[in-house]
Amino acid sequence: MTDTNELKKIAGYRAAEFVEDGMVVGIGSGSTIAYVIEALGKRVAEEGLNIVGVPTSDKTRRTAAKLGIPMYNVDDVDHIDLTIDGADEIDPEFAAIKGGGAALLWEKIVAINSSRNVWVVDEGKLAPKLTHYLPVEVIPYGSDQLFKRLEAKGYKPSWRLDQNGNPVRTDSANFLIDLHPTDITDPFTLGRELTSMVGVVEHGLFLNIVDKVVVGRDNGVEIFDA
Ligand code: A5P
Repeated sequence: MTDTNELKKIAGYRAAEFVEDGMVVGIGSGSTIAYVIEALGKRVAEEGLNIVGVPTSDKTRRTAAKLGIPMYNVDDVDHIDLTIDGADEIDPEFAAIKGGGAALLWEKIVAINSSRNVWVVDEGKLAPKLTHYLPVEVIPYGSDQLFKRLEAKGYKPSWRLDQNGNPVRTDSANFLIDLHPTDITDPFTLGRELTSMVGVVEHGLFLNIVDKVVVGRDNGVEIFDA
């Protein structure tokens, strides 16, 4: 059994090969994408790859910039050719849950503004159905009331807290509520319901977004077209 980090690395390096000279590239967040950034940094240094990056988190912006990738805000580019991002869980219909790393809002904004989206995961992230906790980014004002409304709907919410017990703040200074529904049978209906709740900024269901999934497996990398 190969170490999960090794699976993330082989998949991340393979996904970085989809990037071509001259592209505007959305760059995701998380431990898998750290390998994509590393690989792109090497290509910039060794091949003179000429790209512009659009970050999905402040952390990604800093890491990529340190490796010599010029980084622009999403509103400072006129298009994004390709976005490469991670995921927490992907089902057989290529619906995914994202936001375990607290970056779901910027990730979704960058993703929906990209011509193509590639996700990179280790094989442990593929699941027959979505059972991972579902992050929801919410406006702090009135969020205790929103939490109670989510509880009343049976979604078993919990606050995302930091190590000091304070609410995690996203890069947009919002809070995160993680839902633990027993079963996500219809992600589209759940997504619409969450979006319609006042105070919800965005949820971590990524539906009809991805074009390709790059999976790191024990026996190598497998690529799926969505
Ligand atoms: C960040 O908010 C997430 O959507 C990440 O893309 C996701 O959590 C995957 O992260 P890892 O690659 O660290 O598992």
